Amino acid sequence: MPTLPKFPAGFLWGASAAAFQTEGAARADGKGPSGWDAFAARGRIKDGADTDRATGFYERYAEDVGLLAGLGADAFRFSISWPRVVPDGRGPVNAAGLDFYDRLVDELCARGVAPAPTLYHWDTPLALEDAGGWLNRDTAFRFAEYVGVVAERLADRVPMWITINEPAEVTLLGYAIDVHAPGKRLFFDALPAAHHQLLAHGLAVGALRAAGAGGIGVALSHSQVLPAADTEADRAAAELYDTLTNWMFSDPILTGTHPDGALAARLPGPVADDLATIAAPLDWYGVNYYAPMLVGAPGTRSANGRSGFGGVEVPAELPFVLHDIDGVEHTAFGWPVVPDGLRNALVGLADRYGDRLPPIHITENGCSYEGLDDQRRIAYLDGHLRALHRAITEGVDVRGYFTWSLTDNIEWAEGTRQRFGLVHVDYDTLARTPKASYHWYRDVIAAQHAE
Ligand code: FCB
Repeated sequence: MPTLPKFPAGFLWGASAAAFQTEGAARADGKGPSGWDAFAARGRIKDGADTDRATGFYERYAEDVGLLAGLGADAFRFSISWPRVVPDGRGPVNAAGLDFYDRLVDELCARGVAPAPTLYHWDTPLALEDAGGWLNRDTAFRFAEYVGVVAERLADRVPMWITINEPAEVTLLGYAIDVHAPGKRLFFDALPAAHHQLLAHGLAVGALRAAGAGGIGVALSHSQVLPAADTEADRAAAELYDTLTNWMFSDPILTGTHPDGALAARLPGPVADDLATIAAPLDWYGVNYYAPMLVGAPGTRSANGRSGFGGVEVPAELPFVLHDIDGVEHTAFGWPVVPDGLRNALVGLADRYGDRLPPIHITENGCSYEGLDDQRRIAYLDGHLRALHRAITEGVDVRGYFTWSLTDNIEWAEGTRQRFGLVHVDYDTLARTPKASYHWYRDVIAAQHAE
């Protein structure tokens, strides 16, 4: 692989992970259950993976921090499990839970890796989920309380915070079409979940600032959305999908407005007041990117007959379908590999928001492939880093890149069958084995750090 072009000085090189996907220890040391624990217990993880054990990160974190140090990573994006810190989602704080993250942060700092915690990566405390989860406005306020507790403890050592991860996926997959926890099928009645997550984000920014935390960002998925065919019906379907998955989240956060009045009218609460909270200034903006989305009108089919994005079937109640993208490489998950989609998504953000767009970090990017000699992962990452570099050359201010993921982990409803790691995990022994991509990424980071 030819050497990558040089990224700007000070560019941050990192890797990402999340609590439910790695920690295990699901009921250890006072942790409360999450909506995802309950979803798994209902048999909703396709391969029945042992989510109570996951990759054993709770016990093995020092080993994984050693792997990060071995990579030469500048930063590690992990998530804090809300029910580990506040087991019932409200009320008493679990000191042992907070102590775990304190130890993890200390270990990272000792190894020269900056901690970049996400405060919500989908594991809502079950007690709150049972009370409506993100459909319930109160959840946003409970979240801000928990964020305050975490920030008071860790702000002295954490330079970079992520409030929430991908509220669009939680809304769509979790509340609208029953693919993820909490497993609701509300279609457009899921929209309050979007609004309350955004409110939670805005309140969390306030709680972080009140505790003296800096370096505050968020992690939103951004895909370039393309109409499947150049027809009015497909263009309309694609535009709606673009609004629902991209702009419904980024417009409120970055501009304090809603992209679509008709959709905004379906949102609960004092929406105008909430928007002022949601638009709290950020220090940076996180983009998760995997693939573009090809969207068609209901009843249309991909040229190859496959539905898009790893076979997610959009129920007929929704006014769009996802098409597969033909003629490109696909990952083991069936996601199309289109590196230019990353450049296009970033340039699209810069065009839409101009000066209102804070510096960007890529908070997730990666792919699922089998095997230790994962040359196809290397090709994916190489291609996306080149596309990212092009966007930077064209003027988009990107300051860092976190690959998804450090190790294989529980890929939500797909379980252990989708492997996104630079490091292989043997789920019988929990042994870690660096893949070819780990060594490749280590060399990339070393070359980029060299003068
Ligand atoms: C994102 C999630 C992350 C991981 C990747 C593959 O949507 O934020 O946890 O599962 O997809």
